[in-house]
Amino acid sequence: MRYQIAAANWKMNLSWDEADNLLTEVLSLTASVKESQRVVFAVPAPYLDMAVGHIADKFHMHVAAQNCHSKKSGAFTGEISVQMLNSVEVEYVIIGHSERREYFNESNQFLAEKIDIALEYGIKPIFCCGEALPIRESGGQNEFVSTQLQESLYHLSAEQVKQVVIAYEPIWAIGTGKTASSEQAQEMHAHIRSELAGKYGREIADQISILYGGSVKASNAKEIFHQPDVDGGLVGGASLVAEEFVAIINALK
Ligand code: 13P
Repeated sequence: MRYQIAAANWKMNLSWDEADNLLTEVLSLTASVKESQRVVFAVPAPYLDMAVGHIADKFHMHVAAQNCHSKKSGAFTGEISVQMLNSVEVEYVIIGHSERREYFNESNQFLAEKIDIALEYGIKPIFCCGEALPIRESGGQNEFVSTQLQESLYHLSAEQVKQVVIAYEPIWAIGTGKTASSEQAQEMHAHIRSELAGKYGREIADQISILYGGSVKASNAKEIFHQPDVDGGLVGGASLVAEEFVAIINALK
């Protein structure tokens, strides 16, 4: 289902008390979330259970993990399995964030395994894609993103791919204050949707949420989110400030 989604990615920030306060504040400032919308909090692993508690009686709000392992269980010290996420009622997981790709060498093929195991346990992947600056400058961004989709998602059936949320996050716009223009975002989102349509058909492609990520703030969210192929955002820095993130939720279509 193609929901309009405001997803907070807290990354490796906040203490327990700060996280608890931020959730309390965001929830108290957020009016009802529409049926066509979803709000997702991707919190650090130690706060997943706490976040699930916060949103337990809220409609259309969900908790996401920021990562998962590709195996069910076993001798993988320090890792978190989707089975564990499932057992604490986490419903989404970010897979393939550019920071994981860069600092932990996660390849498209490895990410495909994570996508599979998440879907097997009924957890919806938020699959991140996006190009670095030199690729954008040479005009190779469409081809680059197409390869990411191909190598991590295209082995999925149509029924499976409908469970995936895609987040286009151009690396040059992450944490830099430099946002893609709404035209650049729309152009890439339309490209992603047309690639999905080529592989799975238009009807399926039209059911997939494609989020934009990279320096989304209260001041630019509305213009970006109102592009026809942009279905909300994956928000880093601005999701750590309650009023900012609430304004971003309110900017959803
Ligand atoms: P910023 O919003 O801080 O640029 O981060 C974007 C991001 O990486 C979300 O996953």
